[in-house]
Amino acid sequence: MAILDKHKILETNATLLLIFSFLVVTIGGLVQITPLFYLENTIEKVEGMRPYTPLELAGREVYIREGCYVCHSQMIRPMRDEVERYGHYSLAAESMYDHPFQWGSKRTGPDLARVGGRYSDDWHVDHLRDPQSVVPESVMPKYGFLERTLVDGEYIGDLMATQAIVGVPYSDDMVKQASLDFRAQADPDSDYDGLLERYGEDINVRNFDGQPGVSEADALIAYLQMLGTLVDFSTFTPDASR
Ligand code: HEC
Repeated sequence: MAILDKHKILETNATLLLIFSFLVVTIGGLVQITPLFYLENTIEKVEGMRPYTPLELAGREVYIREGCYVCHSQMIRPMRDEVERYGHYSLAAESMYDHPFQWGSKRTGPDLARVGGRYSDDWHVDHLRDPQSVVPESVMPKYGFLERTLVDGEYIGDLMATQAIVGVPYSDDMVKQASLDFRAQADPDSDYDGLLERYGEDINVRNFDGQPGVSEADALIAYLQMLGTLVDFSTFTPDASR
């Protein structure tokens, strides 16, 4: 009974109740937040992650500009139905270079976190031009204008320099060679050794839209084709299960 009596003091005194509530919330908050300050890194490091190439980054800008995230998420949750449909659940590290991240909150269309390599470039060209030509019941809008809009990558270096400020590991060399690398990735006849040296041997170098010149469709398809392909899940084991 004694404890109830004491609690009554709190319940009948608004100021005291406020002070004690504040104390409880503060302690609860500190318990959650303090450990984070003592962790060196809150994101598990994963092999294979690299910053986007200039062409992929430009494609990502198109993705954001066109609001693809309004209908598509890029976040596979660790639940059986999602993993069976889309592949390995998304890791925090897989979006560590995303500013802003594209997890999304609505799936009118399927999740795109691992769409890379699932379809051919031609499929993407047809699908972007006229989604209903490949998926008749699709409600996705047509994006044919992307393949007719050429881009020269002149300013992509500026964006990379900005992303470097917020922690994306773009070197000065990467920023300086940005427009060169931008064009090289969409032209398999070019000298793209520098691109591979800077970003890795596994970079897709292709004429993604199959047409002359670098278009927004080239950039967008380059971006889509790398989504979810960086981490090799045949060798990946999460820290927690080691
Ligand atoms: C109004 C909603 C909507 C918008 C906006 C939209 N999509 Fe879609 N998308 C869909 C739907 C629905 C599907 C499933 C049917 C289909 O394949 O067309 C789909 C399918 C896809 C697929 C195939 C995925 C798979 O695994 O089969 C890709 C790739 C895709 N969209 C890319 C994009 C891109 C890139 C954009 C932005 C330029 C975009 N979508 C904008 C609704 C949308």
